[in-house]
Amino acid sequence: MADDHEYSSGVSRRDFLKISGLSAAVPIVVRPNIVQVGGSEVHVYGPGKVPMTFNVNGRKYQAELEPRVTLLDALRDNFDLTGAKRVCDRGECGACTVLMDNKTVYACSVLAIEAQGKRITTIESLTQGDKLAPIQQAFVDNDAQQCGFCTPGFVVACKALLDKHPHPTEEQIRQGLSGNLCRCGTYEGIRKAMAQMSGSSHTSRTVDTREVVAEEASVIHG
Ligand code: FES
Ligand code: FES
Repeated sequence: MADDHEYSSGVSRRDFLKISGLSAAVPIVVRPNIVQVGGSEVHVYGPGKVPMTFNVNGRKYQAELEPRVTLLDALRDNFDLTGAKRVCDRGECGACTVLMDNKTVYACSVLAIEAQGKRITTIESLTQGDKLAPIQQAFVDNDAQQCGFCTPGFVVACKALLDKHPHPTEEQIRQGLSGNLCRCGTYEGIRKAMAQMSGSSHTSRTVDTREVVAEEASVIHG
């Protein structure tokens, strides 16, 4: 088919046109899968599958994936790590939260290919055998989940926050969890779980969950 014609370099016409869109400078094909754009050599991956290697929860995972595949899809569909949930799939709800080099990210909004060479931590790493991690136990103790769909993302976000601030202030909790939404309105339980973890009482105040939902939605949507 004409559109799939390969130049002698090995880069198809379709790929070449996509690369051209990357820069006003006309790219020059140097070698198969490498083009020169504005004086720099740029590797071109895909659109077919390419081998990828990941470090997830301290283990090495390998797969052949198309470059368009997200980290969330790679975790769930290729490595059977289904703790991170796909809810909005557009970087709004936080149900897919994982850690990348100890920072929270939305796995639905990170390409798998970009996650290579980074330390990925998922909710699966928290439990030790049958034993819940303290933050997970705190969620159970404080009835901080209902349907549970948002819970893995919240737990990972809480863990990241506690790793950074073992005794977070109310404002730090508000900021640290502002990227996660719970449609069941379990915010009060989550704040109590955080209070239990930090050994404080300032987060256990009764909150109007409608107020929190509105407030956190405004943080996300600006
Ligand atoms: S599923 Fe990733 S932010 Fe909602
Ligand atoms: S517990 Fe149901 S969405 Fe949070």
